[in-house]
Amino acid sequence: MGDLSRFLERNLRHFDLGAPDPALLINPPLFGDSDHRLKSNSHIFLQDYARYLQWSALTPNCAFGAFPGTLEPVIRRALLIMPREKALLRAWLSWMVTFMGPDTTLWLAGENRAGARSAGRLLKEWFQQVEVLDSARHCRLYAMSEPLETIRFSTDRLAETWSIALQGRRLPIVSFPGVFSHGKLDEGTRLLLEALETVTFQGRALDFGCGCGIIAAALGTLNTGLLLDLMDSNALALESSRLTLAASGVDGRVIASNGLSAIDSSYDLVISNPPFHRGHQTDSGMSMAMLQDIRNFMNQSGQLIMVVNRHLPYRRWLTSTFGQCDVLAENNRYHVLRAR
Ligand SMILES: C[S@@+](CC[C@H](N)C(=O)[O-])C[C@H]1O[C@@H](n2cnc3c(N)ncnc32)[C@H](O)[C@@H]1O
Repeated sequence: MGDLSRFLERNLRHFDLGAPDPALLINPPLFGDSDHRLKSNSHIFLQDYARYLQWSALTPNCAFGAFPGTLEPVIRRALLIMPREKALLRAWLSWMVTFMGPDTTLWLAGENRAGARSAGRLLKEWFQQVEVLDSARHCRLYAMSEPLETIRFSTDRLAETWSIALQGRRLPIVSFPGVFSHGKLDEGTRLLLEALETVTFQGRALDFGCGCGIIAAALGTLNTGLLLDLMDSNALALESSRLTLAASGVDGRVIASNGLSAIDSSYDLVISNPPFHRGHQTDSGMSMAMLQDIRNFMNQSGQLIMVVNRHLPYRRWLTSTFGQCDVLAENNRYHVLRAR
């Protein structure tokens, strides 16, 4: 159990999870004893599919999505776990103030390295009353009440539409705060897209860790008839991908999956700018483990194309897993690797 789980556990009494009226817990890690969790009538809302799988094994009262829809039954108590991105924190505060009404009890808990220590200033833009209830284990817990008048939450307002150049035309991309490289083209993805302009593909392709859907949208634009699957564990990424596909006029299936957990097709192309963070650390081992069984999901002549940081040991790993690996493009920070 991590610091935040222990911190939540020592503060359980504040949340009164056994009360008859349910509380809403937004993006919690597993915490507390399982008895408590199972008896509690709390609703758990998760934006991360891996965490959703963990919680749904313990309680039926949990949902996965970008943001909750209407709250049925009405919920007057909510605990939000601090997201790493300030823009996403603002979005959640706006959601809480819009949907939960003036007489609700709200809490924000998070790790200091996610910004919890300094969150008080921001909270005061949204609530008249902000109190620090606990500060320990590099974490902080706030209670907020008396919401101030603010702009109403809407996902339309939250979505940002931007564009990239692709073969002389502009390709529209839509992203939400909390999605990788929100509002701008990542340097690694840029190198990958340049390499894709020089190769053609057919059959079925998987965009592994699709983020805002930028790679799939480019692939679909460059290769007519290519069947596209896009997968990610982040609900905001999946929603961004749906909007990007619609905006760019590309068809594709958008799949929620933790690694390969929900993948059941066979692909001619698997393409990825792979996840490289675990919590706050850079970790290539995580994506290697996730892609360990990828060959079981590839057709005989299938290929895996990845853009990765040159200092990470992917080339050695691909060569030992596939028997060969070539370099499609490179610059001083990244290379685009292809294994067949
Ligand atoms: C480096 S980003 C690439 C995003 C996008 N393809 C691009 O190039 O802009 C990696 C993506 O992997 C997703 N991811 C992280 N862990 C995952 C997991 N366990 N299963 C599926 N996707 C995951 C992240 O949400 C993120 O969108």
